[in-house]
Amino acid sequence: MSKNVFVCARVRPPLKDEDPNDTCVQINEADRTIAVRDRQGFATDKQYSFSAVFPQKASQRHIFESVGRTAVETAFEGHHSAIIAYGQTNSGKTYTLANKGSTDKEDGLLQRCVKELFETVNKNPGLYRVTMSYTQIYNEVLSDLLTGEAPTSKTVSLTIREDAEGNVFVPGLTTVDVCSAGDVTHYVDCGNKIRMVALTNMNAESSRSHVVVTLHLHRTNTASAAPEGRLLLVDLAGSERIKKSRVQGVRKQEAQCINASLACLGNVVHALAEGSPHVPYRDCKITRLLQDAFKRGRTNLVVTVGPSSSDFHETNSTLTFGMRAMKIKQLPMGRGSTDAPFEEGVDTSLCASTASAAEFSRLQSGNEEMAARLREEDDLIQHLGAALREADDEIRVLHREIAVSKAEAMDAAEAARNQLLLHQDVVKQLLRDRERDHTELEALKKHLQQLTAERDGLLEAIQLDQITKTTRSHTKTDGVSAAFVNKENAPPRPSPNQKKNSHPMASKAPLGPIVNLSLNSRNSPLQFIEL
Ligand SMILES: Nc1ncnc2c1ncn2[C@@H]1O[C@H](COP(=O)(O)OP(=O)(O)OP(=O)(O)O)[C@@H](O)[C@H]1O
Ligand SMILES: [Mg+2]
Repeated sequence: MSKNVFVCARVRPPLKDEDPNDTCVQINEADRTIAVRDRQGFATDKQYSFSAVFPQKASQRHIFESVGRTAVETAFEGHHSAIIAYGQTNSGKTYTLANKGSTDKEDGLLQRCVKELFETVNKNPGLYRVTMSYTQIYNEVLSDLLTGEAPTSKTVSLTIREDAEGNVFVPGLTTVDVCSAGDVTHYVDCGNKIRMVALTNMNAESSRSHVVVTLHLHRTNTASAAPEGRLLLVDLAGSERIKKSRVQGVRKQEAQCINASLACLGNVVHALAEGSPHVPYRDCKITRLLQDAFKRGRTNLVVTVGPSSSDFHETNSTLTFGMRAMKIKQLPMGRGSTDAPFEEGVDTSLCASTASAAEFSRLQSGNEEMAARLREEDDLIQHLGAALREADDEIRVLHREIAVSKAEAMDAAEAARNQLLLHQDVVKQLLRDRERDHTELEALKKHLQQLTAERDGLLEAIQLDQITKTTRSHTKTDGVSAAFVNKENAPPRPSPNQKKNSHPMASKAPLGPIVNLSLNSRNSPLQFIEL
C-alpha cells in the first residue's frame, strides 16, 4: 500500500541577535498550518499545511514522539525508513536531527532513535544484528566518515551503484557492527570530527556538507520472512543566499555546490510529486543516495525555519518545498509489495488437472516462444538502459551547469537591484536639490523686484531733483527769488554716496533756504514757497 511522505515543519526559537517581536510565522497547531507574513502590514498571508507542525516551544522529545518513534518502528517492520532535515542555513536542522545536548533533554532525533532501536533489539536477544555507516557529500564528493581520515581536496568520490533489485549501495563503504546506542554515538562523534563544519556569517557551526547515518537491521533468524530494515538519518547542508551570508572563496564555492544540489533535490521532489515518468535521481550525489528513501521507503521530512522576518523569502521557499514533498506517494520495501506484481510464468498444475496433453504442449511451445521474445526484449531494454544512463549522465552535467548559472544569475540580479536602489537614492537627492534651488531662485526674484522698485523710486527722485534745479535756475533768471543768487546759498551737490543710497531731498546736508515744492498748484506747474 502506498503512503505519502510524512512532512513536519519546525520553527526554531529566535536566537540572541534576532528580535522576538519581528516574526514572520504564525503556527496553528490545531489545524497543522503555518501562516507566513511579510513586514508590510501582513498583506501577503500565505498558509502552508503539513502532517505536523512544531512551534518554537516544542521540545526535542516532542519531535521524537511525532517522528522518530514511528521511523524506528518502520525500520523494524523491514522498510527503508528515513528522516531528512531540510531548511535554510541556521534554521535548526542539525539541532533537530543530531544535537548532542549537555543533558538528555537537548538530545536530537539521532540520539533518541538509536536509544529506542537498541531497547527493541535488547528485548529480542539474538534476533537482530545492527551495523552502521556514515557518509558525507562535500562539494559533490562522496566520502566515508568512518575511515578516521579527513577527506582532502584530492579525495576521490566514492561511487553509488544499484543492485539487481534496484537498491542503491556504495561499494567499499566502511560498515561497522554496533551493539548499543553508545556505540553509534561514538562512531558518529568520530565521523563528526572530520565532517566539514565551518563558521559563517549566518551560523557559528554551519554544516558545509550533507551527511547520512545509515543503520542496517539484519535478522539473524534467517527463517524469518520479514525483510531487513534500514534507518537513514540525513542532515542536509542548508541553502543560503550568497548575498546575505556574504561568504567568499572556499565558503562561496561550498555554498554554490550546496545550493545546486538542493536545487536537484527540489527537482526530484517535484518530479515525484507530479508523478513524472522521469525522476532525475542521477543529477547529483545526494538525490542518488536518497533514491530508495524517496522511491519506496517510508520517509519523514522535517523542514526547519527561523522565525525572523528577515528570513521571509527563505521560509516561504522551505515551506513550499515541504508542501510539495507531501504529495509524494511511496511504496514499501520488500518482495510482494514492489511496484509491479511478481510474475511466476505459466502454472504447470494446469496440465495435470484440466488441459489435455495437446493443449499443454501448445501452451508450452507458446511459452517458449514468448520466453525467446522476452529475452530479445530484455537485450533491447538493457541496450536502451545503457543509452539512457549515458543520456542521463549528460543531462545531469547540464542540470548542474544550469543550477550553477542560475545561482550566478540570481546573484547578478540582486547586485543590479542594489545598484538600482542606489541610483534611485541619488535621483531623489537631485530632486530635493532642485526644489531647494527653485525656492532660492524665487527669493532672489523677489529681492530683485524690491531692488528694481527702489531703483525706480530713486530715478523718480533724481528727475524731481533735476526739475527742481531747472526751476530754480529759471527763477533766478527771472529775478523772482533772490534766494539762489548768492552762490554760497546754492544747495550742495549730493556726494556720489548720497546719490546712490538716499533720496537727495532727504539729504541732511544744508540745502540753503528751505523750499517747499508743490506739484499740485493750479496756477503754475511748479510753485515755490519760501518758508
Ligand atoms: N529548537 C531550537 N531550540 C534552541 N536552539 C535552537 C533550535 N534550533 C536551532 N537552534 C540553535 O540555532 C543555531 C543554528 O542551528 P543549527 O546549527 O542546527 O542550524 P542548521 O540548520 O543546521 O544550519 P546549517 O545549515 O548552517 O548547518 C544553533 O545555535 C542552534 O543551537
Ligand atoms: Mg547544520
